[in-house]
Amino acid sequence: MPLQPLELYRDRNHACLMFSDLVEEDGQAVQANQFLIVDDDTGAIIDPGGNLAFNELFMGMSRHFSPQKLSYIIASHADPDIIASLDRWLTSTSAQLVISRVWERFVPHFTKVGKTEGRMIAVPDSGGHLPLGRHELVLLPAHFMHSEGNFHFYDPVSRILFSGDLGVSMTNGAEARVPVTDLAPHIPRMEGFHRRYMVSNKILRLWTRMARQLDIAMIVPQHGAPILGAKAIGEFYDWLDGLACGVDLFDERAYQVPTAFIDPATRQARPALRAVGA
Ligand SMILES: [Fe+2]
Ligand SMILES: [Fe+2]
Repeated sequence: MPLQPLELYRDRNHACLMFSDLVEEDGQAVQANQFLIVDDDTGAIIDPGGNLAFNELFMGMSRHFSPQKLSYIIASHADPDIIASLDRWLTSTSAQLVISRVWERFVPHFTKVGKTEGRMIAVPDSGGHLPLGRHELVLLPAHFMHSEGNFHFYDPVSRILFSGDLGVSMTNGAEARVPVTDLAPHIPRMEGFHRRYMVSNKILRLWTRMARQLDIAMIVPQHGAPILGAKAIGEFYDWLDGLACGVDLFDERAYQVPTAFIDPATRQARPALRAVGA
């Protein structure tokens, strides 16, 4: 049985809930968080995930908010763990999909023919303010972090930044519920992912320059634990500013014609055998 969702924020009119353990932890699929934001009688789901999470999330959400009233399905980007369940969400609700314009003509491949027609808000690269109940969500540009068309979502009421794949850490669903307030011991759980999945240090720096202008209480990624409080968030920005990643780390060594043999029996790559007599 999944745990109750973690209540990231709640006041009389506004709530932010995080589901962290809906995907079975059998080691095959990475742990992922899904989010429900409710403002008065308007609701949005952020990064609802793939088919693994759909049933549990739909039922879990229904305990807090009527799916029939859901206004938006908001996707930071178009990865399978973000939005592969799109067809089922579009069938089960009358919500609109909010996603980068970069993915506008690609996400219909997740659905049956015609399902996305008149149901998609394709967000331009510069982002914008999306009304949500009596308030709004700010769709913040976060392109190349990691996806080419990528947004983060800032909620000015809770002061939470939903940061998609930025700030993620490799944990299980229970650990993801424990916010990080001191960054240093947390870095080993973030570093490998960010070095390989984030595109370049230039992008990280452009982003931190923008993010530092916002009043953020908590950064909540789509995998792993939230980063809570001004101290840890400041440390996170500093860490990103100094992090070499993606194309910074790739040189000609990464683009050699391969010599390894992939063995379908073991599903492993092994080094080339030396030629007989060599
Ligand atoms: Fe992703
Ligand atoms: Fe992800």
